[in-house]
Amino acid sequence: MARESESGLPIEPVYGPGALAGWDPAERLGEPGGYPYTRGVYPTMYTTRPWTMRQYAGYGSAAESNARYRQLIEHGTTGLSVAFDLPTQMGHDSDAPLARGEVGRVGVAIDSIEDMRVLFDSIPLDRVSTSMTINAPAAPLLLLYQLVAEEQGVAAAALTGTVQNDVLKEYIARGTYIFPPAPSLRLTADLFRYCREVMPRWNTISVSGYHMAEAGASPAQEIAFTLADAVEYVRTAVASGMAVDEFAPRLSFFFVARTTLLEEVAKFRAARRIWARTMREEFGARDPRSLMLRFHTQTAGVQLTAQQPQVNLVRVTVQALAAVLGGTQSLHTNAFDEALALPTENSARLALRTQQVLAHETDVTATVDPFAGSYAVESLTDALEEAAVALMRRVDELGGAVAAIEQGFQKAEIERNAYRIARQTESGERVVVGVNRFRGPEDERYQPLRVDPETEARQVRRLAELRARRDGPAVDRALAAVREAAGSAPGTANLLPPMKEALAARATVGEVCGALREVWGTHVPDDAR
Ligand code: 3HC
Repeated sequence: MARESESGLPIEPVYGPGALAGWDPAERLGEPGGYPYTRGVYPTMYTTRPWTMRQYAGYGSAAESNARYRQLIEHGTTGLSVAFDLPTQMGHDSDAPLARGEVGRVGVAIDSIEDMRVLFDSIPLDRVSTSMTINAPAAPLLLLYQLVAEEQGVAAAALTGTVQNDVLKEYIARGTYIFPPAPSLRLTADLFRYCREVMPRWNTISVSGYHMAEAGASPAQEIAFTLADAVEYVRTAVASGMAVDEFAPRLSFFFVARTTLLEEVAKFRAARRIWARTMREEFGARDPRSLMLRFHTQTAGVQLTAQQPQVNLVRVTVQALAAVLGGTQSLHTNAFDEALALPTENSARLALRTQQVLAHETDVTATVDPFAGSYAVESLTDALEEAAVALMRRVDELGGAVAAIEQGFQKAEIERNAYRIARQTESGERVVVGVNRFRGPEDERYQPLRVDPETEARQVRRLAELRARRDGPAVDRALAAVREAAGSAPGTANLLPPMKEALAARATVGEVCGALREVWGTHVPDDAR
C-alpha cells in the first residue's frame, strides 16, 4: 500500500527497475553542473567546496548583533545572514508609533547609516558574503551596506551577498510588504539594473518558498509558487528593457528543508530541472548561469516543537541532511530552542556544529548527487516536477503570479494544505514526537534568551541625536529627489541613486520609505478593504 507524501503523491513501499523503464538519464539528469542541472549546479559541488554555512541572526541593537556575528565567525560560520526587526522590514523608524514594542525584537533595528556601520564594525566587507532578509525596503538597506563598504574602502564591485527582495511571497505569506505590486516590481527591476551596473557580484533577489512552506505549502506548492513568482520577476525585468542574461545569473532562491528527507531531495532536484527548462524555453536564456537554480535552505522552523526542545536537534539534523543531499548552496540550521525564543549563543553554536558534522565527519561531500539513478528518488523527482509544473500552469492561466495573488489563489491553496496538516496532527495520524505521541518530562534547566527591554529606548535616543546633528535641508532636498524619481515611469529614472544620496546625507530608512509611500501609497489586501 503506497504512503501519501507531503505533496499528496504516492510513495511506493518498494521501487524496482520498472519504475524507471524507458527513463533516459541523459535527458532527465544531464551531468552535474550541466543542463538541466538536476544533479546540481556545479560539476564538483561539495567535493571541492562545501555549501556556505550561513546562520540567520540578529536581534536588539546593531552592537548586540555585531557581537553575535563575530561569535558566529569565530565558531566557523562561512556566510553572514542578517535578521532585521519588523519596523525595519516594514520601512518604519524605531521611533515611529507603529514600531512600539517591536524594536530589536525579532531582528536587529537598522534606521540609518550609523546603525549599519555599527552592525559591520570590524567585519571586513570584502571578505564576507552577507545575506540580508529584507524585502520591501531591500533597496535602502542594500545602499546602506554599500555606503558602509565605501567607508571601509571596499569597492561596490567587490561586494558579495544577497538581498531577499522578494515582495510577491510577502503578499502570499509573511506579510512584510509596503507598496502595491506594480511599484514594488518597478523597484525590484531598478535594483536588478543597479546591481548589474554597480555591484555585479551581488545576488539581487532570493525568491523564497520557505515562508509559503512555513504557512503550510506542500513541497509541490512550495516550488510551483516560488518559480511562478520568479517567472513574474523575469518578465518584469525583461519588460523594463533588460536582456534576460543581463540579470538572470544573479537571481537566487530560498527553500525549506522538511523532515521528510526523500521527498525534499526530490523537490530540490525537480526545482532545478523546471527552472533550467523555463529559462531556456520561455525566456531564451543562453548564459548557463541564467539556467542554474542556486538556492539557500533553512530547516523547517514550523516543525520545531516547544515540548522536549532537545528533540529538535534530531529534526534539524535530518532536515539539514535533506538540504545537502538535495544540493543546496547555502544552509541555515535552526537552533533547537527556536520554538521557545531567539537562539542563545549555545544553541546557535550547536546549530552550526550540526552543519560542521555533516560537512566534515560524514561522506556526503565525497560524491555529487548520490541519489542519482535511485528508483525511488528519481520517481519522486519526476512526480514532483509533474505536480509543480501543473500548478505553475494554473497560475499562468490566472494571468501570472501577481494576478493569481490578487485572486487569492496561492493563499487559498496553501491554507487548504495547512488545514490538512493540522487535521492529521490533531487526529494523531501525523505523529509529532513529544507533542501527540511519546510525551515525556520537560527539562527545567533551559533558560531562553531575552531581548533587553531598554533596546527600544536607546534606539529612539540614537535617532533623535542623528536628526539633531544632520544637515536637515540637505536631507529634505535628497528626499524630494527620491519622491520625484518615484513619480517617473518604470524603466526611466533608476530609484537607487537618489536613495543613496539621501541615505548618505543621514536620511533614515523610514524617511526614504515614507517618501515612496507618499507617491505610491501602501498595499491594502482585498480581505482588509
Ligand atoms: N564549483 C565552482 N564554483 C563554486 C562551487 C563549486 N563546487 N561552489 C561554490 N562556487 C562559487 C560560486 O560560483 C560563487 O561564485 P561567485 O561569487 O562568482 O558567484 C561562490 O563560489 C560562492 O558560492 P555560492 O554562490 O554557491 O554560495 P553563496 O553562499 O555565496 O550564495 C546563494 C548562495 C543561494 C546563491 C545566495 O543567494 C545566498 O547566500 N542566499 C542566502 C539567502 C539567505 O540567507 N536567506 C535567509 C532567509 S531567512 C528568512 O527569510 C526569514 C526567516 O523567517 C526564515
